[in-house]
Amino acid sequence: MVPMPTADLIRDALATVIDPEIRRPITEIGMVRSVDLDGAVAVIGIDLTTQGCPMRDRITGDVEAAARRVEGVAEVRIELGVMSDEQRQGLRAQLRGGKPEPVIQFTQPGSMTRVYAIASGKGGVGKSTVTANLAAAMAADGLKVGVLDADIFGFSIPGMLGVTGQPTRIDDMLLPPLAHDVKAVSIGMFVPEGQPVVWRGPMLHRAIEQFLADVFWGDLDVLLLDLPPGTGDIAISTAQLLPHAEIVVVTTPQSAAAGVAERAGAIATQTSQNVVGVVENMAWLEQPDGSRLPLFGEGGGATVASRLSSVLGTDVPLLGQIPLDIRAREAGDAGTPVVLAEPGSPAAEAMREIARALGARRRGLAGRSLGVTPVRR
Ligand SMILES: Nc1ncnc2c1ncn2[C@@H]1O[C@H](COP(=O)(O)OP(=O)(O)O)[C@@H](O)[C@H]1O
Ligand SMILES: [Mg+2]
Repeated sequence: MVPMPTADLIRDALATVIDPEIRRPITEIGMVRSVDLDGAVAVIGIDLTTQGCPMRDRITGDVEAAARRVEGVAEVRIELGVMSDEQRQGLRAQLRGGKPEPVIQFTQPGSMTRVYAIASGKGGVGKSTVTANLAAAMAADGLKVGVLDADIFGFSIPGMLGVTGQPTRIDDMLLPPLAHDVKAVSIGMFVPEGQPVVWRGPMLHRAIEQFLADVFWGDLDVLLLDLPPGTGDIAISTAQLLPHAEIVVVTTPQSAAAGVAERAGAIATQTSQNVVGVVENMAWLEQPDGSRLPLFGEGGGATVASRLSSVLGTDVPLLGQIPLDIRAREAGDAGTPVVLAEPGSPAAEAMREIARALGARRRGLAGRSLGVTPVRR
């Protein structure tokens, strides 16, 4: 005899359906409007967050599959609707933890998200490549990772992560698109292709602030910021908005020799941010015979690390050396970071190791002004 399904059993089953963007069960975020039974037919009312919800097919597919798993359900009928303004408002408040106004969740007490700002003295050293690869590697290791492309004028994260979609809007809240399991937001998702961004200081500050406060990042283990080169307005805004962000300095042996890398790190003296370490990129080119050709010079990363250590008075380690690798460039251009596209390549291995080191660190108190003097016991 086939057991009788009940609406409660179906609701329980629907609690296993996770909204891919919000990453919470659809039953918890008010998406399940109704569950009725018409004999062996489950009639399920689903309210999407927005009319054009890009996840619509995935959600309906998952709902159907979950309901079908309930014994005795022979057929599933889904009646799609859209949340009302009030429902959306409620959802926004719920996602913000009951706070009516947007806040930067990463600066809230108790936030466990480690924030790393990837910085460099000049452009073209591989900051964005490193950011995209660290993010992809950490996500592949099971961490919940977000990337904020703070390089407003020279954004390249959408291309490197292969994001083509736009953030989904719930009124003034944005749900970041996922790429390789990484949540990413970039100004490049908002400006028409080929059009330059011509903003100045206050607009830039506001843009970064919105990316931090208006984007629903959810629970993140790690947020990576791809900073623009140098120590301009954006670097200062980010430091103001995220005082506990820790800086990872990327350098090539060549720019290390020219002393430009230190400037990016030395900004930390003014912002009292912590510099976690130095990444030397384009460290050498492996020859067909296995030998290493130091195209841009040697020892630059270690030099920058030791100079920063003495300027800042803390231990700034060399986190790793990434070789030049044509596959790293190609993978970036194709939108799949080399750690995923060519995981066995030496460049991928080096990046994965750095990702593991950074991913394993606990969120520290370093760089945050606590207003108390620590007492040693
Ligand atoms: N290790 C590497 N091997 C080969 N090409 C690299 C490597 N790192 C970066 N690149 C390439 O160098 C160029 C500049 O890198 P990018 O990450 O955009 O630098 P930045 O963000 O610092 O301006 C890109 O075309 C990128 O693909
Ligand atoms: Mg860049």
